Amino acid sequence: MSGATGRLTDGALSALLDQMRGTSEPSTPASLAARKLSHDVGIASHPLYRQIELQKNLATLAGLPSPYYRRHDARAGHVSVVEGKQVVNFTSYDYLGLNGDPRILSAVVQAASEFGTSVSGSRITSGERQIHRELELALAKNYAAEDCVAFVSGHAAAVSALATLMGPKDLIVHDAFIHNCIVVGAQLAGSTRRLFPHNDLDALETLLAVDRERFQRVLIVSEGLFSMDGDGPDLERLLAIKERFAAWLMIDDAHGLGILGETGRGIFEHQHLDPARVDFWLGTLSKSLVSCGGYIASSAMAVELLKSFAPGFVYSVGMPATNAAAAKTALDLMNREPERVARLQQQSRRFHKTAKRAGLDVGDSWGLGIIPLMTGDSLATLVLAERLLARGINAFPVLPPGVPESGARLRFFINAPHSDSQIDEAVAAVAEEIEYLRHQPLASPS
Ligand SMILES: Cc1ncc(COP(=O)(O)O)c(C=O)c1O
Repeated sequence: MSGATGRLTDGALSALLDQMRGTSEPSTPASLAARKLSHDVGIASHPLYRQIELQKNLATLAGLPSPYYRRHDARAGHVSVVEGKQVVNFTSYDYLGLNGDPRILSAVVQAASEFGTSVSGSRITSGERQIHRELELALAKNYAAEDCVAFVSGHAAAVSALATLMGPKDLIVHDAFIHNCIVVGAQLAGSTRRLFPHNDLDALETLLAVDRERFQRVLIVSEGLFSMDGDGPDLERLLAIKERFAAWLMIDDAHGLGILGETGRGIFEHQHLDPARVDFWLGTLSKSLVSCGGYIASSAMAVELLKSFAPGFVYSVGMPATNAAAAKTALDLMNREPERVARLQQQSRRFHKTAKRAGLDVGDSWGLGIIPLMTGDSLATLVLAERLLARGINAFPVLPPGVPESGARLRFFINAPHSDSQIDEAVAAVAEEIEYLRHQPLASPS
């Protein structure tokens, strides 16, 4: 066939296209397949997939099943049924033992029968349910904040808030052990992101002294109670630093609510500080409040801004009334029954003290709600977790990259209903198993 396309002949056009494709050979299905192979776009070669394989290999090497996605056949609180076996459970952050409380269940049933199981649209377009505002105002009250906005997840609350509040001219500086939701939010915000070593506020101060002036807004982010380590920052000092450098301070107190302070209000109560001095409180409904969702409590203006622009709020479905009802009732119960918080703290301290007495390494944990037993070696930690499970004790092995290299640990979430004997027996079993494993040669991955 002869002819012309514009001023190029068919042959010239084909040669030009080949040149643009970087080949003078005509493209055939076989050559396209070969090119695809040379780029290796298969999921199997994805670096993240390789990470999964590495972890699977670790378990296989030790002849163990994967510790992930274990099937629970019952409500997972301080006890559970894992793959048919009754266990004492230390993997649930139902700190106050409220999951399944009949008063919460009946609030949920009532919300479901009134509003159904979905609000079927973003709150902006599909409207409010009174329970949304009741929950938000109760949370605002906890932090002496002017207002609060609830999102469908804690992770989404953090990502959306950071991406809305911060921009490319700004700096987000956070603790090196901060939760992933802050890292992802900072990436989406397009701000400069810096980290300071865990709880090292001297380093934070030095960093800001050098760099503050280069940025418009600065947001400092830390957690009230770190989820992997069970420790927290010196909030008074963080407040002084943020005031000195004209920065905002956000505290992710996802784990602090229900655990810290005499009545469980969080890290500010634990350290006897005015919560209104913190610019943004980030929290989740999924832990002590036994529901699903997250929130930001702040000034009325900041909340208005987030409700107008935060993508995870504006362009996402509103929280189901059932979730709001569960969280609101749980918060009411936390406030009305402070003995739950006291009991949680007492049982946590018992675990912490008993573990230390048994020679176990609890890291820097404050001994409140979250207690890691540092083991260091990933393979040994997997074996340890499996042997404990066989004895009816379920604790989660936390391995890198979730924690730093050589930072493998068994993490224990303490729940208020854990009994003295459940705690004492778990600690004794860990100590025995560690001693046993010390004398066993374990295959180590090369
Ligand atoms: C410290 C911290 N922040 C935020 C989140 C996210 O909360 P959610 O599970 O409600 O999405 C978590 C969840 O584990 C967390 O541990």
